[in-house]
Amino acid sequence: MADLFETPRKRLVIVSGRSHHQLAEDVAKALDTEVLPTTIYDFASGEIYVRYNESVRGCDVFCIQSISGDVNKWFMEQLIMVDALKRASAKRITVVAPLYPYSRQDKKHQGREPISARLMADLYKTAGASRLMSVDMHASQEQGFFVGPVDHLMAMPVLIDYVRTRVELNKVTVVSPDAGRIRVAEKWANRLGGNPLAFIHKTRDTTRPNVAVANRVVGEVEGRTCVLVDDLIDTGGTIAEAVGVLKAAGAKDVLVAATHGVLSDPATKRLSECGAREIIVTDTVPIPAAKRFPQLVVLPIAPLLARAIRQVFEEGSVAALFE
Ligand code: R5P
Repeated sequence: MADLFETPRKRLVIVSGRSHHQLAEDVAKALDTEVLPTTIYDFASGEIYVRYNESVRGCDVFCIQSISGDVNKWFMEQLIMVDALKRASAKRITVVAPLYPYSRQDKKHQGREPISARLMADLYKTAGASRLMSVDMHASQEQGFFVGPVDHLMAMPVLIDYVRTRVELNKVTVVSPDAGRIRVAEKWANRLGGNPLAFIHKTRDTTRPNVAVANRVVGEVEGRTCVLVDDLIDTGGTIAEAVGVLKAAGAKDVLVAATHGVLSDPATKRLSECGAREIIVTDTVPIPAAKRFPQLVVLPIAPLLARAIRQVFEEGSVAALFE
C-alpha cells in the first residue's frame, strides 16, 4: 500500500502522471512511501485513460506532473488525474506542478492576447484541485490566479547551496537577465552576503517566439564572477546572449543558475558554447541524456518538494522552509 503516514483520520498519497515519473518516485522515497500504482495509457485516438489501482477515498493526495515537453498533453493528463481523484472521493487534492504551465503568459502585452496562466489555474480548479504547489512561477503574483491555497516554493536555497561551493563570495556580482527579475536577483544578492547587483537590458520581438536580444549590462561586472539567475531556460537564447554581453563587459567568468531546465532546441548547443563556466538547473522537468552537456549541473528538487508536502500534510509551515 503506497502510503506514508496513516492515522485513523489522515492518509498521505502520492500519485504521478507520466511526464516525469522519476521525480515523483524521488519525492515519494524522501517521504518514505511509494507512488500509488496507477494505470494510464493513450487510446489510439490520442485520448488519455487514467485509473488508480487502489482506493484513494478520504486521502490527502498530492498529484505530481511536470508540464514540459509535450506541455498540452501532460497538462490534460494532470486534469484527468485530478478529475479521477475527485470522483474517487479523495478528501483533498493538491496539484503539484513543479513548472507551472504557461507561466510566462501571465499578462496581456497587447490587445487580443490571452492570459493563459490564469486559464490554467481555472482549469485546475474546475477539475477539482483543492490546492496548488509549484516552484518559481514566472511571476509571484500568479499565486493569485488559483482560487485556493498556493504553495509557491523557491529553488533559490537549493541553487545557492551549490553556488556557494563554486565561487569566492566577495568576488560575485548577481545578474538578472532582464529588468523583470531584478527583485529575485536582489534576494540572491542578499542571501550571498550582500553582493553587488547588475541587470541586462533585454528586448524581445513579440511577433516571433523565443527571440531575445541582450543590449547591454547595467552594473559593475568587470573582473567579477557573475552569477546569472533566471526562472527558466527554454531555447537558451536569453542566457547565451546575456553571457556574451557579460563577457564583453569584462566579467571574469559566469555561472548560470536557473530553476527549470526546459532546454528546447537549440539550448544544448547554445549553452555549451556560450562561455559560461557552469549552467546549474534543478530537475523540476526531465532532462534526457541527449540534452546534457559537460557544463550542465542538475540538482535534485525532490527533497524540497518532499519537505513542503510533509508540511502541508502535517499542517505545518511551508514559509518556514525559506526563512
Ligand atoms: C523570460 O522572461 C524568462 O524568464 C526566460 O528568461 C526566458 O523565457 C527563457 O527563454 P529562452 O531560453 O528561450 O530565451
